[in-house]
Amino acid sequence: MTTTDSLIAAIDITDNRSVAVSLEGKNILICKANGEYYAVDNQCTHQRTELTKGRIRNCYLSCPLHGVRFDLRTGKPLGELTRVALKTYPVSVADDGNLHLELD
Ligand code: FES
Repeated sequence: MTTTDSLIAAIDITDNRSVAVSLEGKNILICKANGEYYAVDNQCTHQRTELTKGRIRNCYLSCPLHGVRFDLRTGKPLGELTRVALKTYPVSVADDGNLHLELD
């Protein structure tokens, strides 16, 4: 497992917003919902569109193309279009306020 430090300043993301980052060849979407940070693969498991412009509400990220909602806590989708979960990555906030991601 690789831990990536000082990825992004926590204050740069507000609730119901996301930021796309590229880390070690992975396209990752960092999201904030209900005051918590989440990180998921930035690619829908239905038709592989980026989730960057997806709406976030109550810990769910909606795909901007067909609207599948993914639970940011587990990556699991709701609905019938896909049953494949998004990959999720552990995120923590360090004392310096930066976000740390664990990539595998
Ligand atoms: S591409 Fe995301 S729901 Fe279809």
